[in-house]
Amino acid sequence: MDHTTKTDNINRHEFLRTLGFAGPALAAVYFGGHLQSCTNERVSPAPTNLTVDLDAPENSALKTNGGYVVKDGVVIAKSNAGSYIAATLTCSHEGKNEIMYQSDHFYCPAHGAKYDNTGKGLNSEGKKGIRVYTATLAGNILTITA
Ligand code: FES
Repeated sequence: MDHTTKTDNINRHEFLRTLGFAGPALAAVYFGGHLQSCTNERVSPAPTNLTVDLDAPENSALKTNGGYVVKDGVVIAKSNAGSYIAATLTCSHEGKNEIMYQSDHFYCPAHGAKYDNTGKGLNSEGKKGIRVYTATLAGNILTITA
């Protein structure tokens, strides 16, 4: 039996009690680390009038089917069918701001969630779907609205 560990646990418990932690507050101290790891990242705000110049060099990925750029928390892609589509950067699984576009679907590398071009979930991680936006092309300017 490891007496050192047991003694350390008792000492920690007693130490926390001397600081005034008891009941739910004491439990929060013990489980605080776990709760923090479950906290979602900040949810990307919906675009109000986001514009993308398709002629700008930084947006050259949007000239190719399957290409995408990320701007202001929005993933803007040229779909596999050649239409412009957009979705939030925030994954509905655990809130990571990591959504990208892969060939013909939105994808989150954190745990593998997949969403089709309309935002519908394609696997269990993506079952809640993802928020998609309207992309309107006028000349070379793409406008994204919620
Ligand atoms: S947060 Fe995106 S798959 Fe888990």
